[in-house]
Amino acid sequence: MSGAILWFTGMSGGGKSTLAAAVSARIQGIRPLEVLDGDEMRTHLSKGLSFTKEDRDINVRRIGYVARLLARHGVFVITAAISPYADTRNEIRQLASAEGIPFVEVFVNATIESLVARDVKGLYTRALAGEIPHFTGISDPYEPPTHPDIVAYTDKESVEVSARRIVTALVERKLLPEQVLAAEGRL
Ligand code: ADX
Repeated sequence: MSGAILWFTGMSGGGKSTLAAAVSARIQGIRPLEVLDGDEMRTHLSKGLSFTKEDRDINVRRIGYVARLLARHGVFVITAAISPYADTRNEIRQLASAEGIPFVEVFVNATIESLVARDVKGLYTRALAGEIPHFTGISDPYEPPTHPDIVAYTDKESVEVSARRIVTALVERKLLPEQVLAAEGRL
């Protein structure tokens, strides 16, 4: 099977990393796989970058670049960065498509109310208090995808349900072998 990019986008605390891990657990051992997680990329590849539009675009383009390099060699790549700007995500989709690399966009859709209520990292409380400038969804934009391939409603459905829907959609697109669905019972 050829490489592919599964691109998660959505606001902080919405469950991108959790879903990326759940999907990767289902693919592990079946296909060569890499997860490029936003937080991890910012400690290595994009260390020192801020959250201005300019720096977010640099970060997201770097992730897209590495994802393409890996996918070119048959790796199934999962990315999990906020990637708030539609144009930048579309640019990466186009670059991937031009190389024949399938790009599947997953919109991790949780309401801002649910994110503020859960506030896993305590960042929303601080952002609402004006302590974090350029905070996505509070003082910085998030542009939802207009035509996402898959939408995960993480404030309404469980991780298992979202992950199963994603994996099923990937099997339907022939990007994963049917074998991954057999793993469902074990997870
Ligand atoms: S992106 O916009 O450049 O794609 P990325 O996914 O790498 O963002 O990083 C987001 C993570 O950085 C969040 O999950 C959060 O923990 C942290 N963070 C720190 N400051 C901000 C901010 N101003 N806006 C959003 N996330 C922030």
